[in-house]
Amino acid sequence: MTILETQQVRKQYQMGEVTVDALVGVDFTVEEGEFVAIMGPSGSGKSTLLHLLGGLDGPTDGEVTLAGQRLSKLSDRQVTLIRRRNVGFIFQFFNLLPTLTAEENVALPLLIDGQSIKKHQEKIDRLLEMVGLSDRRHHKPDQLSGGEQQRVAIARAFVTDPAIVLADEPTGNLDSKTGDEILRLLRRSCDELGQTIVMVTHDAKAASFADRVVFLMDGRIVDHLKMTGDQAEDIRQIQRHLRALEV
Ligand SMILES: Nc1ncnc2c1ncn2[C@@H]1O[C@H](COP(=O)(O)OP(=O)(O)OP(=O)(O)O)[C@@H](O)[C@H]1O
Ligand SMILES: [Mg+2]
Repeated sequence: MTILETQQVRKQYQMGEVTVDALVGVDFTVEEGEFVAIMGPSGSGKSTLLHLLGGLDGPTDGEVTLAGQRLSKLSDRQVTLIRRRNVGFIFQFFNLLPTLTAEENVALPLLIDGQSIKKHQEKIDRLLEMVGLSDRRHHKPDQLSGGEQQRVAIARAFVTDPAIVLADEPTGNLDSKTGDEILRLLRRSCDELGQTIVMVTHDAKAASFADRVVFLMDGRIVDHLKMTGDQAEDIRQIQRHLRALEV
């Protein structure tokens, strides 16, 4: 089943006199339970696409369909509700609230949605366990390492049982060993929970954890690649496709 779809999506940013064409007609589909990576040069529109997919911003033209809902037909308020209930976000800079503990940061999306933490305590415990932070639950972000902070952000992204997790360079600020742990965690959530994941990354190795890779250039999808499961070979293929984009 298709869970996420864009049809001829365009995005222009107006900078005074200058119009920036960030996306120029993107058709993109994600099936339920897929793990898709988005790659492409800096400025090619990856983050813009991820923001539109999650309803954080609206397209200039075209349609985004999220969990069966055509977002252009909805009010901002309705889009916000659909986003809260269906999308978990993981960002490059973790975006944790510094005054909250790890556990409170994980619970935050529930609070924002007006739900009781008590009712969800078991799930919060399970997620902290899943990311290996049960013994760090009372730590504030500045008492956690970068990898631990990102694991908090991952648990937070999962806490509402979102249909879709969107991740923008989730390993961009981590060393490669910690990054690998995060990627294995995402892969496992896809394999074991059927989690749908769309991840933007610059890193061929990170992308090789996905089921397929979509390549963006100048606001267009210019290429696709399916992973074979032979990671070394997949990484080589991804690098070859990336080199082809760097004309
Ligand atoms: N809020 C904004 N206002 C104006 N222009 C923007 C805005 N956000 C992005 N852009 C422009 O749109 C284009 C696409 O930006 P985007 O952030 O999607 O690129 P990206 O592929 O994520 O790049 P990077 O790999 O560097 O993160 C760029 O040319 C960028 O300068
Ligand atoms: Mg970006």
